[in-house]
Amino acid sequence: MISDASAAAQTIMKTFKVLPTVPVAASRAMQLLNSSDVDMGKVADILLADQVMAARIVRIVNSPLYNLLQEIDSVRQALIYLGPQRVFEIILTSCFLELTDSQMRSPLKIDFCWEHAFGVGLIAKKLASFSKEISEEQGYIAGILHDIGEVILAQQRREEFTRVMVLAREREIDLYKAEMEVFHTSHAEVGGLLAELWHFPAPYIDVIRHHHDADIDDMSPLTLLVHIADQICMSIGFSCKYDSIEQREGEVYLLDMIEIELKLKKIGIEQFRELRNSLGDMVQQVKQTVASIYG
Ligand SMILES: [Fe+2]
Ligand SMILES: [Fe+2]
Repeated sequence: MISDASAAAQTIMKTFKVLPTVPVAASRAMQLLNSSDVDMGKVADILLADQVMAARIVRIVNSPLYNLLQEIDSVRQALIYLGPQRVFEIILTSCFLELTDSQMRSPLKIDFCWEHAFGVGLIAKKLASFSKEISEEQGYIAGILHDIGEVILAQQRREEFTRVMVLAREREIDLYKAEMEVFHTSHAEVGGLLAELWHFPAPYIDVIRHHHDADIDDMSPLTLLVHIADQICMSIGFSCKYDSIEQREGEVYLLDMIEIELKLKKIGIEQFRELRNSLGDMVQQVKQTVASIYG
């Protein structure tokens, strides 16, 4: 049965003037990278055909996200140096940046959204390093992509989304709750539909659609991991709902640490203290990464 929020998301999508698309080069390269014997030469040829994408990949590779010892100056070199798994990760990151950094105006501050996405990506990766069933790459990619619906919704329905942001700040609620009031659906539902359209792998579609669900017992381990990373990330100030640095710094998010610890235990993660100790470094890494890609 289709829920009301899901039906409302489908209606909203019909009002989008142009449906944003994933670059052809990216989806072809990802298909190749998913096959059992990968021809990296072919992957490089495809990526190089898209100049914007190629340049972005080189920038991501050299950002503080990867902390490489040597500077990589070409896509070919990146492919040899990093291998298929990492390249897949970087292409999806690049898709996210491409979709969000479009020419369309948006009420969202795009650098704040990137900080939120990289923040959730890095925290999810750290959490995954303590998990037996979720790989670090999976955690990272899911974290980067989880709010893709928000960015698109804000671009496509600017006026209503401005209201969403004001409502979220005035009432000190998150964007998800404010969206439910204004749109009767949310970025999670819209993002889920878009991710299906773009043929994202199923586990990521699930994360995008269900990371705000009320019942965490029904979440897949990866979705629950991103849900937790999202809450931690907002508690350290990386949220998309602000208009300015002053606003962001003026609000203190209180996080129920006992609740987070209990949720982590549900996915078999006990290293809560270790995670807390690494948060300061992650904040720096996120800021430097966004500055190097965005700046
Ligand atoms: Fe979200
Ligand atoms: Fe989020």
